[in-house]
Order: sequence, then structure tokens, then C-alpha cells
Amino acid sequence: MDIGLDLGSSRTRLFIDKKGKVLDEASVAAYNVMTNKIIAVGDEAYAMLGKTPDSIRAEFPLASGVIAQSALVEDMVHILMKHVCTSKIVMPRVVVSIPGDITEVEKRAVVNAISFFGVRRVYLIENTKVAAMGAGIDIMGPHGAMVANLGAGTSSAAILSLGGIAESKCIKVGGNKMDDEIVKYMKHKYSLVIGQPMAERCKIAIGSLVENNGEDNTFRVKGRDAIGGLPRYVDVTESEIRDVIMETAMEIVTMIKDVIENAPPELVGDIYEDGITLTGGLAKLKGFAKLIADNTGIRVTVAKEPEDCVINGCGEAIQYIGEVEKSAKMDINPLMAAY
Ligand SMILES: Nc1ncnc2c1ncn2[C@@H]1O[C@H](COP(=O)(O)OP(=O)(O)OP(=O)(O)O)[C@@H](O)[C@H]1O
Ligand SMILES: [Mg+2]
Repeated sequence: MDIGLDLGSSRTRLFIDKKGKVLDEASVAAYNVMTNKIIAVGDEAYAMLGKTPDSIRAEFPLASGVIAQSALVEDMVHILMKHVCTSKIVMPRVVVSIPGDITEVEKRAVVNAISFFGVRRVYLIENTKVAAMGAGIDIMGPHGAMVANLGAGTSSAAILSLGGIAESKCIKVGGNKMDDEIVKYMKHKYSLVIGQPMAERCKIAIGSLVENNGEDNTFRVKGRDAIGGLPRYVDVTESEIRDVIMETAMEIVTMIKDVIENAPPELVGDIYEDGITLTGGLAKLKGFAKLIADNTGIRVTVAKEPEDCVINGCGEAIQYIGEVEKSAKMDINPLMAAY
């Protein structure tokens, strides 16, 4: 039995061959700062964010999409895996998605973090490839397909053809940066101190990148007064949050345009016909597809359940492991790299 793993900066997802997605939890680990002993991982640790005593720290060890703290990631993944792989998974092969631009050293850190006892082999595959596969796009044919995976810590866009990447770009900008902008805005404009989880709730509830036919929804942001220190709330509007998150959204739009501008013309022709597919949780932000379409002149669609495209694609890539082993021997450019 083999495993697919999406080590996202905000969520970790696990796929077991023939079963589908079996785990989807926050990429958070909480540990004792004195002993380094893990206290909780996943959603349980997420619930502790901002509420821990001095002796405990809860954090996202994958912030920005690559492994910042390998030991913590290793423990987190190991414990999460044990939650779902109670028995019968003997010597699995693991397909892991990685951002397109990571270095060999960072790749090694990913491989080391999941090569704990019993894992037979690790296969690394770029996020955009698996995102496209999970969105139901055929990436093996001689036809250009464009996908943009918009996540929490990273966003990437790629034009794929013949199982490979013809052109791609990846930036460390995503939903987290929008949350940070909301935190800063609430502090400066309203002297209201809030944490990232509240900012994220606000973004998901009323965040939008397009005008809403004159309607302006509101959301109650609860926090602490920066001066008095007492609890307080502010009702913010959709249009003011749009102004706060627009700059970050435009950084992502620019990245997508760069990929199109640098791609071979024949492939751009294919993209013009088929459009761009958005994956990743941030693809659900209201109006993102329209903003990209308006700025590129190309049709944009959001994949079904965009946040699950990467993990479902990892699951699908499992079936190519045999071919990857063969192509390595024949010196063909493989779909994924074996470690
Ligand atoms: N309905 C929604 N509206 C707006 N944003 C959303 C929505 N649902 C999820 N998000 C945002 O999507 C991001 C998470 O996306 P995803 O799960 O694809 O990230 P990830 O895989 O953990 O991160 P990365 O790929 O960057 O490492 C978060 O910033 C989250 O706030
Ligand atoms: Mg992701």
C-alpha cells in the first residue's frame, strides 16, 4: 500500500492508495520548549495557537511552504500518520508534493523528514503537476495546460505538457500574507489587536476581489484593544477588506502573467483555448478567478474542491511509480524524482 502526502504550509493531507484522502489537519505542532517533547499535532495543536502558556509553543513548522524545522516536521508527520495508518501499511512508498522552486538541500530535508522507519522510497513531485492531475487535467499529452495553485504560504503557476513543466513560477505569497495584512490593518486603523486565526476567518467570511453589485457585507472582528487591553470588536466591510488584500492578490496575478509571457507560443495557443485552472484553498476567495481572467484575457475556472487537488493528484501519481522506475533506467525525463 502506498501513500500520497501534501505537506502544505497550512494543512497536511494524506492519501492512501485505493482509499482516498484519509487525513486533513492543520500543519501545526505544539511542544514543550524545555524538553522539546511534542504535546499535540494537527487540529488539536491548532486549537492551542495563541493560547499556550510560556512553557509550550504551538507553531506552523512548514510556514512558507518549505521545511523550516525538519525535526518538528518529522515528528508532526509521524504522529499524524499514526492517527490513520493503524496497521497493515508495510514499507510504503510515499509520493510527496513540493513547491517548484525548492533547492536540493530543501528537497533532502523533505525526504529526511519522512524517511522514518519503514518508508521504502520517497518520490518528490512538483505541486503544479499534481494539482493539475487532481483537477482532472491530462498532463501527459502534447497539449499545453495551465494551472495555478494558490495556497497559504506559496502560490505557483505552470504550463504543463508531455508530463513535464514547460514554464513555471513560484512565489512565497498566498493566503497567509493576506491574513497578515488584515492583522496589520486592524491594528493601525482601529487599534485592535487580533491573531492570524481571526484574520483568516474574516478573509474567508467576507474576503472578495470584485465589486459585489453594490452590496457590502460586514464581519465582526473580535480582538483586544491595543491601548486599554480589554476585549473589543469592530465591524469591518467587504470593500475595506478588499482594499487590504488586493495588493497581495495582484502579486499572484503578476506571477501568472509572467508565466504566460515566458511560455513558448504554441503552448500559449493551447492555454488560450482551454483556459487556466485554479487549485488550492485560496482559489476559493471570491472573485479571484475573475480578477485573473480580467488581467490576462484568458478564461479561468476554479477546480472542483480546489484545496484537495494536490493531495488527490499525489494519490493519482502513485500509479505512475512503476513507470518512473523504468524511465529512470531509460534516461527519460521522469514525472517525479525518486529518493
Ligand atoms: N473559502 C475560502 N475563501 C478564501 N480563502 C480560503 C478559503 N478556504 C481556504 N482559504 C485559504 O486558502 C489557504 C489554504 O490553502 P491550501 O490548503 O491550498 O494551502 P496549503 O496547501 O496548506 O499551503 P501551501 O500550498 O502554500 O503550502 C489559506 O490561506 C486559507 O485561508
Ligand atoms: Mg498546498
